[in-house]
Amino acid sequence: MKHLGGNYAPVTEELTAHDLPVTGTIPPELAGWYLRNGPNPADAASGHWFFGDGMVHGVRLDGGRAVSYRNRWVRTTRFTDGTRMYDDQGRRDLTSGPANTHVVRHAGRTLALVETALPYELTRDLDTLGPYDFDGRLGTAMTAHPKTCPATGQLHFFGYGMAEPTHLTYHRADATGELVISRSIEVPGPTMLHDFALTAGHVVFMDLPVVFDLELALTGGTMPYSWDDGYGARLGVLRRDDPHGAVRWFDVDPCYVFHSLNAHDAPDGTLVLHVMRYPEMWRRTADGSSAPQRAVLWKWTIDPARGTVREEQIDDRPGEFPRVDDRLTGLDSLHGHVTCGTSLVRYDLTTGAVTAHDFGPGRTPGEAAFAPADDVPGGPGWLLTYVHDAATDRSDLVVLDAGDLAAAPVATVHLPARVPFGFHGNWLADTDA
Ligand SMILES: [Fe+2]
Repeated sequence: MKHLGGNYAPVTEELTAHDLPVTGTIPPELAGWYLRNGPNPADAASGHWFFGDGMVHGVRLDGGRAVSYRNRWVRTTRFTDGTRMYDDQGRRDLTSGPANTHVVRHAGRTLALVETALPYELTRDLDTLGPYDFDGRLGTAMTAHPKTCPATGQLHFFGYGMAEPTHLTYHRADATGELVISRSIEVPGPTMLHDFALTAGHVVFMDLPVVFDLELALTGGTMPYSWDDGYGARLGVLRRDDPHGAVRWFDVDPCYVFHSLNAHDAPDGTLVLHVMRYPEMWRRTADGSSAPQRAVLWKWTIDPARGTVREEQIDDRPGEFPRVDDRLTGLDSLHGHVTCGTSLVRYDLTTGAVTAHDFGPGRTPGEAAFAPADDVPGGPGWLLTYVHDAATDRSDLVVLDAGDLAAAPVATVHLPARVPFGFHGNWLADTDA
């Protein structure tokens, strides 16, 4: 199976290595951890790439040195005791998930996330503290794509179920990490919601036609979701200043979006979203296969006055893992970057102009996180990503100048082991709360 071969194959060891060799110069401003999560099945078998036990790979940078590398499985109950869908009372066991999709920090806590379960809290050394349910207040799973509002420090997120009566719940934690809002939102069916979007004034949900498929769930071993031609597609807009108020829905053409790049409220009253849009996803066919789909950058402009959404394709380059300088989450970030094959591509979202860094044949980057150089949002900084080299079967942490992407890397940290392809991560500076 492709998701267990090549650099998708799991690694078998947890390592700790110090004083890593570096080509180039690590910017002395970088003091913190680059962490990235991804599936790494402990038993080296897994029915789908999305199912493997989470492993976080971290590199610590400080004082211009690559101080250490560490990789650790997230010790979920699923990792230690095996999968348990339901607890002794017959309720969903929300501690039972792979915690394999993202790793974020909020209110001083470092959380490993997967959308089917609760977060798991990690120490700064990547040891697992245990499941985290916001002091007993979080009663649903938590998306792996929560968003921190840079103005308020609030953490906005949602949870969705598979067959639960309440499918979608919007949550908000304040800057101290206290869960202060949880409210259910009605959607027509059990849609798969991987990500959403935040603006300064609104929360936007993507209710798209990939829905829970009981037959696939009973078959097991694959994602229990499939494309539904009859479901339709819509964006739901909730005002942040009326969090228990009505959600207003706007129809869009059927498609699937795993990831939004960013969103903002425009001065003319519209909401602008940039997303990586697939024309469809996981359509069931007679032989059970589904044609591979590719995502490209689209812009959605929601016009509340007219009740319409303008849908525009911005580029035809297939890519994924869209990110911005997270200090501009929900604001007009002007730029954003995407991983495209062996390249990182940075878009000027105003002009559509593109700069790119190609790592060369056989050198494949993952998602890149932005690490700021100073305290000015949108200011200079670096893009950090793990790059796998097929020729050597080793991985590097590569640091690129975000403002001069085509230039040679600023620094390349040579890691002691391969980092398998994975999902999402962050630069967590020591100065972050
Ligand atoms: Fe994701």
